[in-house]
Amino acid sequence: MSELFREVVLGSEPRPPRLSTHQSVATDPSSLVEAKEIPMKATKHQTDARRSFLQSSVSAAGLVLVGCASSSKAATNTPAKDDDKSEAEVTPGEDLMQEHGVLERILLIYDSAATRLEKNEGLELALVTSAAGLIRHFVEDYHEKNEEQFIFPRLESAQREVELVATLRRQHQRGRDVTDEITRIASSGTNAPALVPLFRAFERMYRPHAAREDTVVFPTFRELIGRDAYRELGEKFEDDEHARLGEHGFENAVAEVARIETALGIDDLAKFTP
Ligand SMILES: [Fe+2]
Ligand SMILES: [Fe+2]
Repeated sequence: MSELFREVVLGSEPRPPRLSTHQSVATDPSSLVEAKEIPMKATKHQTDARRSFLQSSVSAAGLVLVGCASSSKAATNTPAKDDDKSEAEVTPGEDLMQEHGVLERILLIYDSAATRLEKNEGLELALVTSAAGLIRHFVEDYHEKNEEQFIFPRLESAQREVELVATLRRQHQRGRDVTDEITRIASSGTNAPALVPLFRAFERMYRPHAAREDTVVFPTFRELIGRDAYRELGEKFEDDEHARLGEHGFENAVAEVARIETALGIDDLAKFTP
């Protein structure tokens, strides 16, 4: 661990690597849902294992399939050589933005739920409870904790985007308050219309919140931290994901989002095409 990284990250425990692409995800007590075939984040372990695998006897067709299937979670933090077909690691910024993708899909779920309530179309409140549970465990207790522990302090110590970071911190707290209220109402099974303004307020706050992080905060952090510490933080995030969410936290969150989307009839992306 470099000295630069120590300035930013406090202590970590080693953990096993993630599954390779397209392996089934087993359910465990800390998992959010059982998943089948879902995109995976790439790890160094996967890269090494895949390289060994390819060097033995895999067919060219198999190679193409593996590469395509995993590309949605792969990122490049080292220049790829022309003859290097290995999968690159996910950088911290990409990791956080992929988690914003989960958040955005839950915001679409909230939007759909609010519309159903407004039109008296009926809404299974257990779906709301599940979506709010994802917000609590994946977004608030994991994603936002990483921002608060590793990203924001680096900008604050450098006196960069100080007002913006203060607003983002306040919004994290307000978001937790709103999630408490959504969970309380959905669990009670009564006064469901009271969820509508909460859904709308949550969406209204979090879309620009995440967009500002993607376009201002994460690029500034990347600029400040330096290449080596940035790379090491990617490994730290991977460790934390396993420690806090179980071995397949991201994958399980995506699978649970997909399940709720299907239940609400918003799973067909093509229907969003104007
Ligand atoms: Fe945030
Ligand atoms: Fe965020």
